Amino acid sequence: MARIETPLCDALGIDCPIVQAPIGSASTPELAAAVADAGALGTLAMSWRDGDEIRECYADATAQTDGVVAANVVLDEDAGVLPPGECLAACLDAGAEVVSFSFGDPEGYVERVHEAGGTALATVGSAEAAREAVAAGADAVVAQGWEAGGHVQSDVASMALLPRVADAVDVPVVAAGGVSDGRGLAAALALGADGAWLGTRFVATPESGAHERYREAVSGADETDTAYTDLFDGGWPGQPHRVLETETVERWREAGEPDTGERPGEGETVARTPDGDPVERYDDLPPVAGVDGDVSALPHYAGQSAGGTDEVVDAETVVERVVADAVAAVDEVGSLVSL
Ligand SMILES: Cc1cc2nc3c(=O)[nH]c(=O)nc-3n(C[C@H](O)[C@H](O)[C@H](O)COP(=O)(O)O)c2cc1C
Repeated sequence: MARIETPLCDALGIDCPIVQAPIGSASTPELAAAVADAGALGTLAMSWRDGDEIRECYADATAQTDGVVAANVVLDEDAGVLPPGECLAACLDAGAEVVSFSFGDPEGYVERVHEAGGTALATVGSAEAAREAVAAGADAVVAQGWEAGGHVQSDVASMALLPRVADAVDVPVVAAGGVSDGRGLAAALALGADGAWLGTRFVATPESGAHERYREAVSGADETDTAYTDLFDGGWPGQPHRVLETETVERWREAGEPDTGERPGEGETVARTPDGDPVERYDDLPPVAGVDGDVSALPHYAGQSAGGTDEVVDAETVVERVVADAVAAVDEVGSLVSL
């Protein structure tokens, strides 16, 4: 089988230049391990776990694979269970050798990963932020475009962002946002990236922690079915995110898009977490397996790549298809060239 190897593979110790993005509490040890086993980078989003959970889920994932499993730490102090420094300490204590940072300045944090002998990635939303991340020591940067699912840290779409970031830095660049298949990986490589970082595509896998109805909603959505909004602000206020246009979003639009405090169903408990804690209508908790109640009311984080995510398939198949289809896409473009 044809392979694709880029400098990202060397930097991370992986076989193919694909990263399973941190997808919050939907990034389970099973998902990260399956992706790592397929030769790509699996990731656990650690910001929504406490110290014990971080150590347990990292051990759980790495017990299932000899591949590489990364830990993601969100640096915005308003997000997450632990302050970012404590979250990172727990990740390093757990043995994470690849750590990705997002939603904040990685200065100071990258150094701690290096001191532990690890590799650090930083998510950026502009060429300037990419230069700053590399100045802070980042070994690779993740250029997240505006079409991405989940919380979004850029105002620029990937097509315009990737060449700018690739020209700005001399470390591997990973394309995040809009990639659901091998054509997306091939396009990202053509735009100067060294790999692709897929979130929404991996939500629709049986190994993800997404509730069955959330997976089905993502795989059934079109590219026009998402909203870029700051609506689901309970738990992490002020950070724009991209979600499917669910009933909660539509009702808020019909009400004239009122501010926080005046929205339809404000403060209403719509569901309970697997631990039995109440979840309010505008909380940032996505519908994960085990959530009880009105699952459809919760934020269905998904990118425009939901359009190209048209079935629930296992993570290994996703990785294999992305590689094979990227090779085919490159061949097809090559066949158009005459010298
Ligand atoms: C359900 C979900 C949860 C996410 N949680 C995180 C997170 O915890 N940390 C992070 O850096 N990015 C998070 N993201 C953003 C992804 O890392 C990534 O940038 C995005 O999914 C890429 O766009 P795509 O969805 O089109 O593949 C999340 C995305 C989704 C869809």
